[in-house]
Amino acid sequence: MNVRVYPNGDLASIAAAVLIAGQVVDNPRSVLGLATGSTPLPIYRELIAMAHRGVLDFQNVTTYNLDEYAGLGPDHPCSYRRFMQENLFSHLQMRPEQIHIPNGLAEDPDAECRAYDAAIAAAGGLDLQLLGLGSNGHIGFNEPAPHFTTNSYCVRLSEQTRRDNRRFFAEGEQVPTHALTMGIASIMQARRIVLVATGPNKAQAVKRMVDGPVDPMVPASILQMHRHATILLDADAAALL
Ligand code: F6R
Repeated sequence: MNVRVYPNGDLASIAAAVLIAGQVVDNPRSVLGLATGSTPLPIYRELIAMAHRGVLDFQNVTTYNLDEYAGLGPDHPCSYRRFMQENLFSHLQMRPEQIHIPNGLAEDPDAECRAYDAAIAAAGGLDLQLLGLGSNGHIGFNEPAPHFTTNSYCVRLSEQTRRDNRRFFAEGEQVPTHALTMGIASIMQARRIVLVATGPNKAQAVKRMVDGPVDPMVPASILQMHRHATILLDADAAALL
């Protein structure tokens, strides 16, 4: 794993955007795995700015998002479908057929997850997967557990993750208990992985991901085994390295 530390989050985000842009310039038909949450927002703003300047063209890109809350439909303000539409896709004029996100309302979530993995495989696999890092070491919604997960599946969210994500939900609204997520094997099959972590609340998870043993209680530590994983950190997230 190639770890790069930047003085601040803005520079780490620009570095991530440059890697994604490079992928799309090299192969305009790239298949990208995308993430939601706070971390990707400045990265998406950079990509949008590059597209608006005419440097980048997303018209032939295909995207697969990491995860979606179970029980939230595409119009729910906290659904990841809505997040992606508002923070990236609508600004790039992406067409619905380019975009893939697990269906949080699927009657049979397991079948939805199987179909999701099959669709990624049929698209030729992910050229580049963008990841954030949970403060508990999760990637996607693969929570700390006794074993690494394999393919996409419906997961029960840990209490820490539900607390961390409370900030996105309105007062009085329940944070969902479950989510559909790409599994660890699905993520590890990506040809390139770019993980970005910023801020002091990620420092402990970063330390365990980079310096600790490969341990399913720190799901991101599996990235030590990936052939082409780039970890972009700001100084706060890298403070314990
Ligand atoms: C989001 C996802 C999560 C987040 C992680 C960090 O699609 O899969 O793993 O990347 O929870 O979230 P932020 O960036 O909000 O700190």
